[in-house]
Amino acid sequence: MLSRLDKVLSNLGLGSRKEVTEAIRRGLVTVDNEVCRVPDKKIDPEASEITFQGEKLVYRQYDYIMMNKPAGYISATEDRNKVTVIELLPDRLKRLGLFPAGRLDRDSEGLLLLTNDGNAAHAIISPKRNIDKLYYIRYSGVLSDNAEMLFSLGIEIDGGEKCLPAALERVGNGEAHVTIHEGKYHQVKRMISAVGGEVIYLKRLKIGMIELDDSLAPGEIRRLTTDEEKWIRGIIEKR
Ligand code: URA
Repeated sequence: MLSRLDKVLSNLGLGSRKEVTEAIRRGLVTVDNEVCRVPDKKIDPEASEITFQGEKLVYRQYDYIMMNKPAGYISATEDRNKVTVIELLPDRLKRLGLFPAGRLDRDSEGLLLLTNDGNAAHAIISPKRNIDKLYYIRYSGVLSDNAEMLFSLGIEIDGGEKCLPAALERVGNGEAHVTIHEGKYHQVKRMISAVGGEVIYLKRLKIGMIELDDSLAPGEIRRLTTDEEKWIRGIIEKR
């Protein structure tokens, strides 16, 4: 598909429309080995070889980012009063229209996927796709003896709301792993409270085959690997 050169470059996060126009006019951009000084030139970004300041660009239709979300940020693109996870992105990525594919509470930490691909976000979130979401929690209180069984049958939370079957595994004193396949509001906290505990720390470790990269400090991000992106394409196609 043909698109304007300035639009392609700014969609790749290389600057605002104004900044990339300036760069194009200054001769810093080549298209198929020739300097192109025409910002509105129509090009096919998938077929043309483009360089920006001497560097070859890899065209991407969509972006997929992993973040190790720190506590204190909300999983939204904007908010009047509270700081969002988008604030943690470098400026170049702030321009890509990324949004979280599945929320984490403000006080929760760990794996958050950000994308500008609506189909991918939908596939990751939809309970129909049955994607495992694994959480590590610390809790206070004493969980009932049959908590594991109640989770596996599909526990009722808040007097009537039924969850899909899930898994609870106690991994230490006041620590557990919880696996769910949906994302109701405060779901893990409410499930734990339904069996007598209170979540005091929650960190998401895994979504499907995508594991939180433990080399990412809180607030850090990286692009998904080719294999991780391939997995996402797979779940989009599996209808
Ligand atoms: N469940 C919760 O209760 N909180 C989260 O942030 C994620 C899952």
